[in-house]
Amino acid sequence: MCVSENNRIFANPIILSRNPSAKNSIVHTDNTFHMHTSRKITQDLFYVGASDRRLALFENIYPIPRGVSYNSYLLMDEKTALLDTADAAVAEQFFANVEAVLSGRRLDYLVVNHMEPDHAALISGLLLRCPEVTVVTTAKAAQMMEQFFGNKPENLQVVKEGDTLCTGRHTLSFIMAPMVHWPEVMMTYDTTDKILFSADAFGTFGALSGNLFADEVDFVRDWLEDARRYYINIVGKYGVQVQNVLKKAATLDIQMICPLHGPVWRSNLDFFIGKHDVWSRYEPEDRGVVIVYGSIYGHTESAAMRLGMLLAERGVKGIKAYDASHTDASQLVAECFRYSHVVFASSTYNNGIFTPMEGLLLDLKAHAWQKRTVALIENGSWAPQSGKLMRAELEQMKDIVILGDILTLKSALQPSQEEALAAMADQIVSTL
Ligand code: FEO
Repeated sequence: MCVSENNRIFANPIILSRNPSAKNSIVHTDNTFHMHTSRKITQDLFYVGASDRRLALFENIYPIPRGVSYNSYLLMDEKTALLDTADAAVAEQFFANVEAVLSGRRLDYLVVNHMEPDHAALISGLLLRCPEVTVVTTAKAAQMMEQFFGNKPENLQVVKEGDTLCTGRHTLSFIMAPMVHWPEVMMTYDTTDKILFSADAFGTFGALSGNLFADEVDFVRDWLEDARRYYINIVGKYGVQVQNVLKKAATLDIQMICPLHGPVWRSNLDFFIGKHDVWSRYEPEDRGVVIVYGSIYGHTESAAMRLGMLLAERGVKGIKAYDASHTDASQLVAECFRYSHVVFASSTYNNGIFTPMEGLLLDLKAHAWQKRTVALIENGSWAPQSGKLMRAELEQMKDIVILGDILTLKSALQPSQEEALAAMADQIVSTL
């Protein structure tokens, strides 16, 4: 029997074992068969994760039209070690991959770097299949296992900063990374092959296609936007903690980064580390202007677009404009993080900020948005309020410079206000 009667972590067993007597060798748990989709990374290391292109909303909030991958890695040394599991949505593919790579060998260790269910959901299923595996993780993660599964694993090895685990040829060293992105997070560094298993850090939205490595895709063209949106929205609030980890990483010789989402980095690591350095310091990635408007009947939009024309006439290139009602908040937040200057133009609604714009400002505040230059346009047919209220939100954020006066529209931009709008454009250009 593979289920311990006194250990609730093995509750709800999935039945139908093809080989129930084999200790710690993976067994099939349903009637279907999945060919493995694992891929060799190094002599001893294999990718055993899987992608989901069916999920509409990651964390039930972030649209992922390009899907997402749940990465897991299996180290085949004298002892075998699996680094994290995967989301329940890819369970069958994940277990097929682990089984294929193990090829009948027992699994000795499961290293859990992160307990969020998109990586930890299959821990209980794995322990059901491999009850003798030793789970290696942080004390906080062990506590979360009890919270999620009702009990801690039977064989548990709690590690802390600098602890090591020798698997034979490889020695794994553990690096605590609290709040990147949950408090229990750690990273694992393979001191032998110089590989950093970075948990959520250096991840991105986007399903993998077979091309596992960042140098096998056009990352800047096809992935960077999703990587930015992923980082800013998932981890953006924790810039200080990310900086702490980057400082630790700088002391290591890292030849490869294996994140929990998206491509593996084996070249041009400095490019991606540099992006995370900029993002986590809340510095603009690009000097440029984003115009975000919340417009009910199009008059606020018209004024915002007139400003865009004036900026362009003054030589500003690459201006981005978004209707807050028709753009996902995660994209707006990422764009506001990317650029140095943001124009917020909003109607007044229920004596407040037009709701989509209000939501954006709250989201930016929640993500510790800072160090930007902004200009404000408000609209209201009888009692314009949105400018004052937007400014009050922005004043709660750190190092936000608000240029000049709020431009107030009464229903629509009037010809007499062209000069004021031109002055706003001049101020933006002079500070770009
Ligand atoms: Fe990909 Fe914080 O989980």
